[in-house]
Amino acid sequence: AEEGRAVSTATTSNMGEEDSGNVRKDLANLFERSLRVTVPSEADVEPLIAACTGKFGDYQCNNAMGLWQKIKGASEFKAPRAVGEALKNNLPHSDMVRSLEVAGPGFVNVVLSESWISKTIHKMLINGIQTWAPRISVAKVVVDFSSPNIAKEMHVGHLRSTIIGDTLARMFEFSNVEVLRRNHVGDWGTQFGMLIEFLFEMFPNWEDARETAIADLQKFYKDSKKRFDEDPAFKERAQKAVVRLQGGEAKYRKAWAQICDISRKEFDGVYQRLGIRLEEKGESFYNPYIPDVLEKLSNLGLVEESQGARVIRVQGYEIPLIVVKSDGGFNYASTDLTALWYRLNEERAEWIIYVTDVGQSQHFEMFFKAARRAGWLPADSNTYPRVSHVGFGLVLGEDGKRFRTRNTEVVRLVDLLDEAKSRSKATLIGREKDKEWSEEELDQIAEAIGYGAVKYADLKNNRLTNYTFNFDQMLNDKGNTAVYLLYAHARICSIIRKSGVDIEELKKTGEIKLDHPTERALGVHLLRFAETVEEACANLLPNVLCDYLYNLSENFGKFYENCQVVGSNEQTSRLLLCESTAVVIRQCFHLLGIVPVYKI
Ligand code: ARG
Repeated sequence: AEEGRAVSTATTSNMGEEDSGNVRKDLANLFERSLRVTVPSEADVEPLIAACTGKFGDYQCNNAMGLWQKIKGASEFKAPRAVGEALKNNLPHSDMVRSLEVAGPGFVNVVLSESWISKTIHKMLINGIQTWAPRISVAKVVVDFSSPNIAKEMHVGHLRSTIIGDTLARMFEFSNVEVLRRNHVGDWGTQFGMLIEFLFEMFPNWEDARETAIADLQKFYKDSKKRFDEDPAFKERAQKAVVRLQGGEAKYRKAWAQICDISRKEFDGVYQRLGIRLEEKGESFYNPYIPDVLEKLSNLGLVEESQGARVIRVQGYEIPLIVVKSDGGFNYASTDLTALWYRLNEERAEWIIYVTDVGQSQHFEMFFKAARRAGWLPADSNTYPRVSHVGFGLVLGEDGKRFRTRNTEVVRLVDLLDEAKSRSKATLIGREKDKEWSEEELDQIAEAIGYGAVKYADLKNNRLTNYTFNFDQMLNDKGNTAVYLLYAHARICSIIRKSGVDIEELKKTGEIKLDHPTERALGVHLLRFAETVEEACANLLPNVLCDYLYNLSENFGKFYENCQVVGSNEQTSRLLLCESTAVVIRQCFHLLGIVPVYKI
C-alpha cells in the first residue's frame, strides 16, 4: 500500500512533529501538509482525523468529501474519492505509518506501523508518562469548585462539584497549566446577621467557648432560622447585625469569623479524606471590590435602575441581572461579576471554569453575557480569555428522587464516605485479607477502594446526566467500576512481581513486539492516552477519560487471555507491555483522584 506515494522533500525536517505523544495530532500535522499540496486554494481547511477501531485501520482522514463539495467544478478532481487518493499520495513519508488505503467515497485509512508503536511506548516507559501530557495553549486557569456555603450543609451536589472540579484541575496540572483551585465558599450574605445574633443569644460567653460552642452548625442554622421566622424582634436585630457586620464592626466580624471557622473545619475533613487541595477565596474576599467594579460597569452605561434595584440587561432574557438589591445590598451576581473581574485582571487567568449543578446555568449565562457586554470577554466564547460553566446533573436515590436519607434529611458526606469505606473493608475481611495484611494496610486499601468507588461512579457518567447513587453497584468488582479497575491494576502488578524480573533493567535492554492482534490492539490503545486526556480537558468531560480507562483494562484482559506472559518466549516484550499498561492506568487513576492499590 506504500506504492505510488509521493515522497515529500521534507522527509527529515518533520521529525519533531511526529513526537508529541498525541497520535491524532501528529497525523493531523501530516495530513495538513498533504492538504496544502493537494488543494492549495483551500488554505484554511483543517485536517479531520478520527480514531477508529476495526478492520479499516487505526485512524481515518475524513477531509475528502467535504473538500470535494467546495472545489467540485473548479478542479481536476472528478470525484471525492480522487481527492482522497491525492491526499494519500501527497502525504509526507512518516515512520508512524505502515500503510494507507482509500476507502468508500474517499476516506483515507491509516494503519500505524507496529515498530513505531513499540518504539513510542518504549520511549514513554523510559522517559515517563509526563512525555505524553497534553499540550494546552493556556498558561493559567481558575477552577472554581466545591464552594459549599458556611453553616449550611455540604450536600451531594457539593460532592459532585468537588470530585469533578478536582479531576479537571488535575488534568490541567498534568498538562503543565497553572491551576488556581478556588473554593468560592458562601461566607457572606444576610444569613450571617441571623447566625450572629443567635450565637450571642445562645452562647453569651461565645468568645471564650470557641470551638466547642457550636457542635452541629447545621442544626444551629435551622434553629436560628426558626427564631428569625417566628420572632419579629429577633428578625430586626438580625437585620441590624448584617449592617454592623458589613460595616466592619469588630465584635460582629469576630463572631462571623468564628462561625466560618467551624464550617471550615468540617469541610476540610471531607477534603482531607478525599485527597483534595483547595484554596479558599470566599465571597467575602470580593466584597470590598464590588463598589469599584460596579462603578466601572456603570461608567460603561451598563447599569440601569429598575424597581429600586440596579440591574444589567442581557440579551435573551426578559428579566435583567440584579447587581444591587433594592435594599442596597449586593448579591450572588455582584459577587460573581467582581470575582470574574478579579480573576481576569488581578490574577490574569485565561480560562475560568465554574463547577456547579446545572440548576445554576442561568445565573452563569447571564453574568457571562454581562461581562461580554462590558468587553471583559471576547464576543467569541471559544476565544481566550474565556469562561465555562461546567454543569452537572442530580444525584438520585434508589427511588429515582433526589438523594436523601430515610428521614428525608440531606445526606451527610462524611456518613457516605464512612459507609463506602466500611463496606469495602467488610468485603476485604470476607476475603480474609485481615489475616494477610496489617491493620494499617487493610484500612488504606479499604479507603482507596471505597473513596475511589464513590469518585468513579460520579465521574464515569456524562456529567450532565443525573445518576443514581448505589453502593452495591459502585462497589461491584465486575463491570465499569473503580473496584474492577483497581483490581485489574493490582493483578498486572502481581504478574510483574511474580515474574521475578527487574523491570527497570528490562526497560533498558528489552524490546516491545506486537505480533499478536491483542498485543497490537493494546499497544494502539496505550498510544491514545495523550489525545484522550487532551480531549477530556478541552471539553471538560472527565467521563471521556473513564471510558478510555475502562477500555484499556478490557484490552489488557483480552491480551492476557490470549498471550501467556511469564515463561513464554515473548516474556520480555510482554512484561514491558504489562508495565506500560500499569503506568498508564496509574496515571488515569491519578487524574481521576483515585489512589492505586498494588495488591488485592
Ligand atoms: N456556593 C454556591 C452554592 O453552593 C456555589 C458557588 C459556585 N461558584 C461561583 N463562583 N458562583 O451553590
